[in-house]
Amino acid sequence: MTEISASLLTLEKENAIKTMYNLEAGKIDYFHIDVMDGKFVEKNTTEIMKDYALTASHISNLGLDVHLMVENVEEFIDEYSMLEPEIITFHIEATKNEERTKSVIEEIKNIGSRVGIAISPDTSIDEIKQYLPYIHTVLVMTVVPGKGGQKLIPETLEKVKELKKYITERNIDIDIEVDGGINDSTANLAIDAGANILVMGNYLISSENIKEAIRKIKEN
Ligand code: DX5
Ligand code: ZN
Repeated sequence: MTEISASLLTLEKENAIKTMYNLEAGKIDYFHIDVMDGKFVEKNTTEIMKDYALTASHISNLGLDVHLMVENVEEFIDEYSMLEPEIITFHIEATKNEERTKSVIEEIKNIGSRVGIAISPDTSIDEIKQYLPYIHTVLVMTVVPGKGGQKLIPETLEKVKELKKYITERNIDIDIEVDGGINDSTANLAIDAGANILVMGNYLISSENIKEAIRKIKEN
């Protein structure tokens, strides 16, 4: 079953609550919270994302899928722990060394969230293979992290295929999430490559009829 995680990155503040209701009514599976610290990526979304995450958890029972595009991963795990996210994903490019990566995995498990590791377009899946038995999700960035509304980089789907083959051969039960430039024409390519969680921002938020836009994806 393919799941949809709706990115709130391009949400307009004035319409935030209404759009969240529409997303939930359209039967998305998670709210995707893009936390950017102004260091790991240029943009800083820390305040607005905290605001949206709090609102989402007040008005909805849907799980939060927190995507940390930050250097100080530990600080933000701590900050988000009170919202009991369903998934917390950090970037392997941020934790860098093995010792730290393992301790971050433990930290996320300890607060009761599922653990995701994200890889940017230039990072090979070789960098994360050793952690696969201990985590729940791999988030393959299909655009360069930093902003919404970009075009999917086709080569990143080759990585999704490679990862899918690797986990299938080894019987590793793990979700593959794709993030960036997913819309009604790229969703199928990502699913065929092996993804089972689709992050969608601009496609949903900018559509005139959110429910219809979600139905189109779910029908495929
Ligand atoms: C990019 C973010 C994504 C992105 C998704 O850095 O991680 O979640 O904003 O938005 P769209 O679907 O508009 O590419
Ligand atoms: Zn994201």
